[in-house]
Amino acid sequence: MHTIDQDTVQIFDTTLRDGEQSPGASMNVEEKVAIARQLEQLAVDVIEAGFAASSEGDYDSVARVAEAVTHPIVLSLSRTKEGDIERAVRAVEKAKHPGIHIFIATSDIHLQHKLMMSRQEVLDAAAWAIGYAKKYVDYIEFSAEDASRSDRDYMTQVFAEVIKAGAATLNVPDTTGYALPEQTEELFTYLISSTQGGRDVRWSAHCHNDLGMAVANSLAAVKAGARQVECTVNGLGERAGNAPMEEIVMALKTRQDFFGLRTNVVSEQIYPASRLVSQVTGIPIPINKPIVGDNAFAHEAGIHQDGVLKNKITYEIMRPETVGVASNRLVLGKHSGRHAFHERLQQLGLAAPEVDMNKAFSRFKALADKKKSVYDEDLVAIIAQESVRADDRYTLAYLNVTFSSEAVPQATVKIRVDGEERIEHSTGDGMVDACYSAIKRATRPDCRLERYAVKGITGGTDAQAEVSCLVRDGDRTSTGQGAHTDVIMASALAFLNALNKIEYQQRYAERVRVEGP
Ligand code: KIV
Ligand code: ZN
Repeated sequence: MHTIDQDTVQIFDTTLRDGEQSPGASMNVEEKVAIARQLEQLAVDVIEAGFAASSEGDYDSVARVAEAVTHPIVLSLSRTKEGDIERAVRAVEKAKHPGIHIFIATSDIHLQHKLMMSRQEVLDAAAWAIGYAKKYVDYIEFSAEDASRSDRDYMTQVFAEVIKAGAATLNVPDTTGYALPEQTEELFTYLISSTQGGRDVRWSAHCHNDLGMAVANSLAAVKAGARQVECTVNGLGERAGNAPMEEIVMALKTRQDFFGLRTNVVSEQIYPASRLVSQVTGIPIPINKPIVGDNAFAHEAGIHQDGVLKNKITYEIMRPETVGVASNRLVLGKHSGRHAFHERLQQLGLAAPEVDMNKAFSRFKALADKKKSVYDEDLVAIIAQESVRADDRYTLAYLNVTFSSEAVPQATVKIRVDGEERIEHSTGDGMVDACYSAIKRATRPDCRLERYAVKGITGGTDAQAEVSCLVRDGDRTSTGQGAHTDVIMASALAFLNALNKIEYQQRYAERVRVEGP
């Protein structure tokens, strides 16, 4: 039996699985590994790395994450099917702490309209699957999908059977984001006390945010005895997303007086994790987002500023440093050397083994030449770009864009494609449009820009612009990111980054087709 520390809430991160189900948030294997390493720095207890049976790409991602991290348990999601379980077992076999997360729906709505199974059949399938998986892996979590709309007494029967079969953790998902906090607290209280063997296992909350209550519901579950919360960085996830990890962790930490509980998370790693996930997925963080939004610690009203200057405690319930937003954000400049650069990256948890430090340092030097002050946020952008650049097919050799209020914007690009240089010229509605259509001509003429966003990484006119875009070519889509002190250069880099990732997906699919996973 797994011992359960009742004073600690285990953090189960599903950014790489449920988070990836966010529209437009797909990540490639390298990106997932980079995020998993950051999750390890954050010290989450469990990483759900993917759904191994769902695709070759997912299988590979789970296997790579399993090898890349040491401390967290690494799980693959699995249905109650033999083939799924076998794929999941194989995918996590190299993990130091492997596990499988098996789910089946328990609500009558799902049974009748999706599974076409009776209650008894679902109960048998769940118990069988846990017993089967248990032959290969010790740590098993079971989820009753759509639990918040399931019959409670039926759930106690299913849970009792899966406990008998060997499940260590029982997850009670609010799959549709339908529950309310009072109901969630009552449901957990009931399930924990009425399920046979329920006091010997870990109970887990997995809440979706359709009604904006994922955090409140997760905390209500904790109040009732749940000792694991499933969440994602920045609240990524299917539809309105999952409970945001940063809000759960900081609510438990800041209101320790109320909950009397702790997590193992190193809260100073929250901000770097949030930035990395936003960079990789191209999904921006709203400025007023709790904990990690740009305004989360900004005091604007005069009366607030006056109070904070006299004593921070007047309006601040958390210190920005606690979540990794340093109040003294200026860290490096033009005269900083390699040693200072590397040390700061280590402090920020950004010195991952797959990052090419020479390239990252050259980028830093180039940036410091243009920009007097290089902030932590700039370093996060540099590393995010370095760590996900997998042998690019397209690189920018030259860009010339002209704009005048009296003439049509024009762009000329020189792109290196497999060592050969291609020069293209185009006009457009604006400078970005002209630049993108020239790049398309030189690379993938049929691709289409579906989303484009630009943001200043730090304040000031010399700030780096960070561009993220979503590009489609046929049935493949990818996000791309670019950061530069010039917004047109940042735009070109983001576009090329997306095209390189589409290339990478294509090559990967081809390799799997020829060699197998
Ligand atoms: O929301 C949900 O029900 C899920 C399960 C697979 C755990 O993501
Ligand atoms: Zn979910």
